[in-house]
Amino acid sequence: MSVTWRADLEREGFVVLPGFVDDDACDSLMRRAAEIVDEFDARSMRSIFTTDERERVYDAYFLASGDKVRCFFESDAVDESGSLVVDKGRSINKIGHAMHDLDPTFNDFSRTSDLEELAAALGYADPLLLQSMFIFKHPEIGGEVGVHQDATFLYTEPNSTVGLWFALQDARIDNACLWVVPGGHHHGLARRNVRSADGGTTFVELAGGVPDSPQVPLEVDKGTLVVLDGLLPHRSDANHSARSRQAYTLHLIERAAEYPADNWLRRAPDMPLRGFGSRDGTYWEASS
Ligand code: FE2
Repeated sequence: MSVTWRADLEREGFVVLPGFVDDDACDSLMRRAAEIVDEFDARSMRSIFTTDERERVYDAYFLASGDKVRCFFESDAVDESGSLVVDKGRSINKIGHAMHDLDPTFNDFSRTSDLEELAAALGYADPLLLQSMFIFKHPEIGGEVGVHQDATFLYTEPNSTVGLWFALQDARIDNACLWVVPGGHHHGLARRNVRSADGGTTFVELAGGVPDSPQVPLEVDKGTLVVLDGLLPHRSDANHSARSRQAYTLHLIERAAEYPADNWLRRAPDMPLRGFGSRDGTYWEASS
């Protein structure tokens, strides 16, 4: 694989690789995500939204998803009684966070030889696939994601986190493409999100951060891969357009880096993180 982009990535903190994935692979992933939402029983979530401790219980549902396939609602999709105020198909913000290990379609998308070569070109000696997210960004309801660094949530020592952001549909400013702060990764990590004693998470402020820096939109076509340094500040707006902006993200870390026990994302001992190789086995086969 050509690594002409490596210097760009080191300078800017991101690189855009058009046509990395073909249309069929994008379509197949979107179809599978729609099936997962179809199979999801939204009514089972009512008990969470009707409890007095709605926020705490929903946080627990989220924090236990590091080794599961779970659906998460848009904040405007559910009313006080736990009822959906939009169609279920439009109510889901994202699916996370272990489809790459638990679903054959997502595994196939996430473990191609192209991606294995890309990870090697990124400098990984022994990459692990830490987290996957399918983001729907539905028309009119898809919510914003504020400026953040992925390493805030997926932290290793030393920092080894890289985000792979796949545009499954064309992403433009009006349907909420990514915005980035070029070079912003040079300023270090602004804060860490850590597990707290009350069962939730909290932020620990660190020395890094890039205040008031200009942000640049990344308008990209379906099939584009955007590689994001884990320290690069980025965001996306709410989607006020009539078109969705579906994307899939995969996060890599280095096996030899320390993965702190107070990171939010945890895996069960019998489901350790895996790399790209088929030697690692597949969890759905092991559990069937
Ligand atoms: Fe992010």
